[in-house]
Amino acid sequence: MPKTSPEIGGMGHSVKRKEDARFIRGKGNYVDDVRLPGMIWLDIVRSPYAHAKITKIDTSKALAIPGVLAVITGQDLAKYNLHWMPTLMSDTQMVLPVEKVMYQAQEVAAVLATDRYIAADGVQAVQVDYEPLPVVVDPFKALEPGAPVLRTDKKDKKDNHIWHWEVGDRTATERIFKEAEVTVKQDIYLPRIHVSSIETCGCVADFDKVNGKLTVWMTTQAPHAIRTVFALVAGHVGLSEEKIRIISPDIGGGFGGKVPVYPGYVIAVAALVLTGKPVKWIEDRMENLQADSFARDYHISAELAGKKDGTLTGLRVKTIADHGYTDAAANPSKFPAGLFHICTGSYDFKAAHVEVDGVYTNKPPGGIAYRCSFRVTEAVHAIERMADIMAHELNMDPAEFRLKNFINPEQFPYKSVLGWEYDSGNYGAALRKAMEKIGYAALREEQAERLKRGELMGIGISSFTEIVGAGPSKHFDILGIKMFDSAEIRIHPTGKVIARFGTKSQGQGHETTYAQILAEELGIPVDHIAIEEGDTDTAPYGLGTYASRSTPTAGAAAAMASRKIREKAKKIAAHLLEASETDLEWEPGKFFVRGNPSKAKTIQEIAFAAYTNHPQGMEAGLEAVSYYDPPNLTYPFGSYICVVDVDKGTGEIKIRRFVAVDDCGNIINPMIVEGQIHGGLTMGLAPAMYEEISYDEVGNIQGGSFMDYLVPTAVETPKWETDKTCTPSPHHPLGAKGVGESATVGAPAAIANAVVDALWHLGVRHIDIPITPAKVWKCLRDHGVTD
Ligand code: CDP
Repeated sequence: MPKTSPEIGGMGHSVKRKEDARFIRGKGNYVDDVRLPGMIWLDIVRSPYAHAKITKIDTSKALAIPGVLAVITGQDLAKYNLHWMPTLMSDTQMVLPVEKVMYQAQEVAAVLATDRYIAADGVQAVQVDYEPLPVVVDPFKALEPGAPVLRTDKKDKKDNHIWHWEVGDRTATERIFKEAEVTVKQDIYLPRIHVSSIETCGCVADFDKVNGKLTVWMTTQAPHAIRTVFALVAGHVGLSEEKIRIISPDIGGGFGGKVPVYPGYVIAVAALVLTGKPVKWIEDRMENLQADSFARDYHISAELAGKKDGTLTGLRVKTIADHGYTDAAANPSKFPAGLFHICTGSYDFKAAHVEVDGVYTNKPPGGIAYRCSFRVTEAVHAIERMADIMAHELNMDPAEFRLKNFINPEQFPYKSVLGWEYDSGNYGAALRKAMEKIGYAALREEQAERLKRGELMGIGISSFTEIVGAGPSKHFDILGIKMFDSAEIRIHPTGKVIARFGTKSQGQGHETTYAQILAEELGIPVDHIAIEEGDTDTAPYGLGTYASRSTPTAGAAAAMASRKIREKAKKIAAHLLEASETDLEWEPGKFFVRGNPSKAKTIQEIAFAAYTNHPQGMEAGLEAVSYYDPPNLTYPFGSYICVVDVDKGTGEIKIRRFVAVDDCGNIINPMIVEGQIHGGLTMGLAPAMYEEISYDEVGNIQGGSFMDYLVPTAVETPKWETDKTCTPSPHHPLGAKGVGESATVGAPAAIANAVVDALWHLGVRHIDIPITPAKVWKCLRDHGVTD
């Protein structure tokens, strides 16, 4: 029996890759670094078919391999009613199938073995007989009458339509379009893409028999929500919430992909119960790329109405959202299309109407918020492409067109026609700064000169508005759990601090920025402050980190809890100084008597007194907790300008310059924000020019490995030139807005607009992303360019 089979189960799961990944990452505080005595390994048999009946699973050969301990099938889980689980959008998802598989690479059975290699060999030895069923990969075909109904598990389901959702004023919008002097319409597709974080998903599940407690180390962005989901799914088999501990250690990138609960996690816990041994499951790179939840896959049909002078009046959008075989999007429950209705963008419309229809297909679950706040990238791409198309149709400069239609600074707080209340903004300032920095006027002159010489140069703008910080609990919940977030601060007698949060950093530097907030608010040095996140036994309940929500929610909670502490500290200071509270003033680090700065007590002296000499009748200790429910979302924004040169002969696109001016209100840590923007821009470049996951007509995944799924490296990435404006949020206690996703949201449209700008004179109106050299080459040939 080979110990290191290079290919497993026909899906190309390379064991060597797993070890390579570990080698690259090295030893650290990641899930894959957790080793427990007696730990066994779990590996997963996956389906080669996209839609097929399972007629037989023969486990005998696998079980004959020394070291293989068990093979778990859907039938085994069905005995405990654990073969299906809820998704975060209240749909259902298979843990392991009993009757049929619904997408290629779906989990079919799980093998448990004494080591990783034997588990992989066991996977190869499990024999599954399939009876192929008709496959539906095209969501438009899925909606046709007579299309095979995919979710046969849902008794009353007669089609593949999941939901219809609409927002805005249909009648008013129709009227605006009838009255419009100009209208433009464009179909825009944002293909499936994958977050491809460096660390794949995985967990180690352990059960403490003495205390009856389950501990799961897990790659999750939302540990508390996961604990609650586990309790809801497995409460009936004895897992109650206080007996579940989720630990999310260091995470090698999340980007929304580590919010959902994947079957592997549930199977690992079931395997733990079955064997009584700690179980480890770590996906390999290709499993991660082929089977984890995907983003985008939105087929958008957008229309703009306006006047001949370039004034925008109306927006109409219809969208088909391909969700794969289940709606497992991590959206707030009220918003099945996420916050897609931010698609009015930075512009002042009279009316808008948006419709979205969710559809089942034979693909893995889609709909995760890949580095965007629930479908905002799709919305921004649509409006920013449309703005350029309208400007070009009217023969207007796209910058001038935007400046004419922006919501003006004095209009804030601004209520959009689709219902959002934008907190603050100054879009013109950001665009003008970007234009100045890149030398816009000179570039337009150069472009005209080059065009005369037959050269293709394009300039693309994206003036996006983001919507982050979910969220105000009156509108935002996931599975009914309200979307607040939390901070708990304890000051020890010696003035040192431990602070814990309901969020979970995945490399965004929360340990640094939260410590800075506390240092600023309490006057305690950052190196006296320890920050912890990710352990449900110690951290206060929170909804986790995604959708750039940490600063707007937990960052605000840090400030609010600090201010509660200051209130108490003031009382203790008054007691120590024998002064009235009203006579005390605060400067970071101490309270002093007004007019007599030498009569002061430092926060450290006050902390000591909180445990040794506090006023009679006051509770001892100096700590506070804040569960912050933001009154509104925050609306960061920016203007990006991209300059491209297109090679007529090859279709190759060279990004010559890219200027990004961002505004996230008050910045806590400029270096971290700069890093977020650089990373975000590269993650915006990726879908604009390289990344796409598609399927052939029988549901075979195309681009299922990094040989085909082209994640840009430093070689492909241009030099990002960044700058900022600052428009504080009026409702956030620190005036800050989220920023983590802005660049990923804003960049693709700037790049796409630049390429189309270079080709517009040839009659090219639109190219769907990723804009590859092959697409551009074909487009040039289709439009008569031959050299
Ligand atoms: O939720 P997530 O941490 O991904 O996003 P975020 O709230 O936008 O924050 C990303 C990182 O940038 C965090 O470390 C923030 O504290 C930092 N940040 C900042 O320093 N100033 C801002 N105005 C916004 C974020």
